[in-house]
Amino acid sequence: MEPQKYKRYTITAALPYANGPKHIGHLAGAYIPADLYARYLRLQKRDVVFVCGSDEHGTAIANQAMKEHTTPREIVDKYHALIEKCFAEIGISFDIYHRTSSQLHHETAQDFFTNLNDKNIFVEKENEQYYDEHASAFLADRYIMGTCPNCGNENAYGDQCEKCGTSLSPEELINPRSTLSGNKPVLKPTKHWYLPLNKYEDWLKEWILQGHAHDWRSTVYGQCKSWIDGGLHPRAVTRDLDWGIKVPVQGADGKVLYVWFDAPIGYISATKQWAINNNKDWKPYWQDKESKLVHFIGKDNIVFHCIVFPVMLKAHGNYILPDNVPANEFMNLEGDKMSTSRGWSIEMHEYLEDLPGKVDELRYYLTAIAPESADSEFTWKDYQARVNNELVAILGNFVNRVMILMHKFYDGKIESDSATITLQDDNLNTELGRLYDEMERNFEGYKFRSAQQTMMEIARLGNRYLTEKEPWKTIKEYPAEAKLALHNCLILIGHVATCMQPFLPNTAKKIFGMLNREKDTVAFDEEMIFANGHQLNPASLLFEKVEDELIERQIQKLIDKKLAIEGPAVVADAPVIPAKENISFDQFAAMDVRIGTILTAEKVAKTKKLMKLTIDTGIDQRTVVSGIAEHYEPEGIIGQQVSILVNLEPREIKGILSQGMILMAENAEGKLSFVTPSVWMPNGSVVR
Ligand code: MF3
Ligand code: ZN
Repeated sequence: MEPQKYKRYTITAALPYANGPKHIGHLAGAYIPADLYARYLRLQKRDVVFVCGSDEHGTAIANQAMKEHTTPREIVDKYHALIEKCFAEIGISFDIYHRTSSQLHHETAQDFFTNLNDKNIFVEKENEQYYDEHASAFLADRYIMGTCPNCGNENAYGDQCEKCGTSLSPEELINPRSTLSGNKPVLKPTKHWYLPLNKYEDWLKEWILQGHAHDWRSTVYGQCKSWIDGGLHPRAVTRDLDWGIKVPVQGADGKVLYVWFDAPIGYISATKQWAINNNKDWKPYWQDKESKLVHFIGKDNIVFHCIVFPVMLKAHGNYILPDNVPANEFMNLEGDKMSTSRGWSIEMHEYLEDLPGKVDELRYYLTAIAPESADSEFTWKDYQARVNNELVAILGNFVNRVMILMHKFYDGKIESDSATITLQDDNLNTELGRLYDEMERNFEGYKFRSAQQTMMEIARLGNRYLTEKEPWKTIKEYPAEAKLALHNCLILIGHVATCMQPFLPNTAKKIFGMLNREKDTVAFDEEMIFANGHQLNPASLLFEKVEDELIERQIQKLIDKKLAIEGPAVVADAPVIPAKENISFDQFAAMDVRIGTILTAEKVAKTKKLMKLTIDTGIDQRTVVSGIAEHYEPEGIIGQQVSILVNLEPREIKGILSQGMILMAENAEGKLSFVTPSVWMPNGSVVR
């Protein structure tokens, strides 16, 4: 079936937070697939706008500013520039890369809020929220941390647990603590505006559960279904913060729009700015039913793009809804989750610096292992294998062999008896037609892995044909046949280059240069044809083989980066302390060990090793002096669950009465670790 063609296409890729560099997992999740889709549509001569920009609000930005001891403004300026530059170098072909800190965006988001507010869409509610009395501030989202009720991760944020992916609200956190002061926050009343998602349940059921059961990815559909089935609740769209877009209502001082309210509107303001720059009208791209809206995102953004933003658009009433949200799963790295903060990542700028001139290789590999239906895994060994066995051995080899023979036999000149040279082989023609159809179907269905494989099939087809025809052998006895075979191969190269444009734009340009085509982009429906007498340019190498050394250096770099952040891992064959003598069960049972949580921590003055801790043991809150100061920062361990021997005789250490002992694991080199339950356990739980 012919894919349904729309009058125009509005393509968005998740606005990355400008709070740090972005890694190749982000690229694989949203930006590469979005770029492939946009490039494909443009080559089909469809009317496309592809928008993105930096997400510059929210507590993620403000927190990073605290970490770097600077202002949110400086943080977003710095990272916006870095991210934008990397995207450009990697060839992500945004029509605009905008910013949510722009004046235009502030106005657009405020207008949107006012529109909904005037329609009485919001529910205004005063309720109690966590407040840090030391910092005199309400604690929104990432300003509050605690234990995840779902997985026990002690460093879950007020809006999300990054370990298990659960979306949270601050009240759900166990043992909440303020990231401003480390203190336990108190509840205090404050007024906010809520988007009543619950009122849209019926509509969402109809639109997603019935309407998109077959065209949305099952991973995306499944997440939506479990959200909707679980029951939706009103969601606050305002926050007590000073960094963000002011709530455009009288008496809302000190309040800003929730970042997840303003950011998706960023797609609209980006389109507006693009329209201004290019003398166009932005409205049809967002308001005409004949436009197709597609959001490219990673799976952690599904609820916002499939439920919250569509409800906003629906409530407003003038907007179209996303036709599809082809969210990707996650891409892991060498056996572990990718994470910038844990040092286990390849940042875009690092790749560009360390492997200059290898952008197409990265685009190819990230597409080949795109996490379209399940999590996938980046390994340097596999990267090497794919580049060497596929790009070098199949693609590069085909193009190179043909070009070299053309130069050797005919000085690079295409000469024939007819005025034009076209593909003269029924079998190749049929196969090619089939592959184009297949590729088109794959693109229309957001199956970019398969689309890329189809492109590679054309190169394989060419290699097989060349091997079968052996023009280097037939040139003597059957020169006309040898020439025909090589001319057919040249046409095939033109087609491979045409189809590779979305995936490998730099290589495609190189090939068009070698073929000496006037234009360096070729639409999918253009005829591949050469004029008699056409002169080819000299051949140049398309891909270099990736050597072991490069791969080993990258793996080492990864390990070094992680070590620099997390400290040395335990060496597998480190010496073990010899076992002690046996004790009786009663001797063991006499010890009362409990699970507790560190409430406060401070270094003991004039000592190197000692830290004074307050522990909630479940039984009481008590002071313990512990020799861990060389191993932990006090701020870092607040909220940490530990095992504590509670019936050890109290003793005075440096004038402080220490009531109990924190159990620590220690290796032969003296590295220490808390002994923490593998899932969150209530304080006072008995260890035995
Ligand atoms: N900044 C968010 C993230 O990185 C994504 C925002 S997407 C938008 O997870 F829709 F809000 F723009
Ligand atoms: Zn969790």
